[in-house]
Amino acid sequence: MKTLAVVLAGGIGKRMNSKLHKVLHPVCGKPMVGHIIDLLKQANADRIVAVVGHGADAVKAYLGAQVEYTLQEEQLGTGHAVLQAAPLLSDEEGITIVICGDTPLVRSATLERMIQVVRETPAAAAVMSVRMDNPHGYGRIVRGSDGRFLQIVEQKDCTAEQREIKEINAGTYVFDNKKLFDALSKITNDNAQHEYYLTDVFGILNGQQETIVALCTEDATEGIGVNDRVGLAEAQVWMRRRINREHMVNGVTLIDPENTYIDSGVKIGADSVIWPGTTLSGATVIGEGCIIGPNSDITGSQIGNRVTVKQSVLSEAKVADEATIGPFAYLRPGAQIGEHVKIGDFVEIKNAVLGAGTKVSHLSYVGDAEVGSNVNIGCGAITVNYDGVNKHKTVIGDNAFVGSNVNLVAPVKVGQGALVAAGSTITRDVPDNDMAIARERQENRPGYAE
Ligand code: UD1
Ligand code: CA
Repeated sequence: MKTLAVVLAGGIGKRMNSKLHKVLHPVCGKPMVGHIIDLLKQANADRIVAVVGHGADAVKAYLGAQVEYTLQEEQLGTGHAVLQAAPLLSDEEGITIVICGDTPLVRSATLERMIQVVRETPAAAAVMSVRMDNPHGYGRIVRGSDGRFLQIVEQKDCTAEQREIKEINAGTYVFDNKKLFDALSKITNDNAQHEYYLTDVFGILNGQQETIVALCTEDATEGIGVNDRVGLAEAQVWMRRRINREHMVNGVTLIDPENTYIDSGVKIGADSVIWPGTTLSGATVIGEGCIIGPNSDITGSQIGNRVTVKQSVLSEAKVADEATIGPFAYLRPGAQIGEHVKIGDFVEIKNAVLGAGTKVSHLSYVGDAEVGSNVNIGCGAITVNYDGVNKHKTVIGDNAFVGSNVNLVAPVKVGQGALVAAGSTITRDVPDNDMAIARERQENRPGYAE
């Protein structure tokens, strides 16, 4: 028995008022449809078919070869959307998960329970439901006086009485594959929106005396369907809480979880402390015992153990153990900071490797450079890496001392143990252990100022 899956991602999503297709809007850094694909992979789906239509190219570009596609040329409703998968799936034996691309909070455990119920009962279908205080906009689960599931009625087709129902259709279903496509062939668009509703399949199956289970989950947030930016923000809040909770359970201290923004997929070691206003995104990995924040923005970076990052911005940077960064530092792509390095305030590092124990304490720019270990780069010293056309490299050997307010005009090399006097503009290589001084000699004119 195969596990098949259909992801509905073809709708127009007009309530988003966006050029970006709805299912590609990120929730905690990952497009909604990406969360859905992760969920289906966890459920060991043998085949995943994405129904694409509106914005098909963008959805395909994002999902790539990990799913199969079927094109829904006209968006005639969710039932019509699933029907587009019939040529690919209707001959298969097995169960079919049907899930909307805009419900990123469905939990894997809930989906597993639904699959189990359909397999073991066996049932023709299971639908995930949740109770919502404000069910407006969702399809309602209509039950008989005995509590037995009867049908799903869309908001716009509800009677006044049905509108009061708080149990809603969360838009995640598991079907017996054959029964799904058989019932789908019978749906019509005879309803308020003149759409082919997937939800009508339930009324049809019920009429055929099939077993249907409406599985009501405790966690109502699982049912959040994102139809507009308000829903997007709501989904984001709950996803963030889940992510933050997981980090805390794993031993990370979040000083103020409601003001800490950690993307899905970020890894943080135990005993690290994250201060408020911090955003950790992309494929960022943070080691153990770090102190991060407040107000730091770290993207796609790898941070070792016991590193401190205060009020700084890091983008695609690597920082080794026990380095300290900030406050107010900016590490740009290609910054590789060695162990015990100190990067202080108002320092910018780009595409540069800094060896262990090196210090760049204040007001420096180090770009396109190879800096050895235990180097001291004085306050205000900079690499002059750009001549207006090309970028050039600066090499600074181990134990070198670069005085304050030095310009290193690249390409240039400062040898090991060399010393560059403060205020020098260096245009020629400095040999190992030499001292270079390149500035106007001072002249004092006695009494002149008076
Ligand atoms: C749907 C359900 C509703 C449920 C809610 C849960 C139907 C008729 N209604 O309503 O009962 O409470 O989800 O969030 O199913 N799509 C297509 N092609 C189409 C239409 C939609 O691929 O022709 C896709 C959309 O991209 C979206 C998903 O199907 O990912 C759901 O469509 P949407 O229009 O958001 O349905 P809702 O009105 O939210
Ligand atoms: Ca929806």
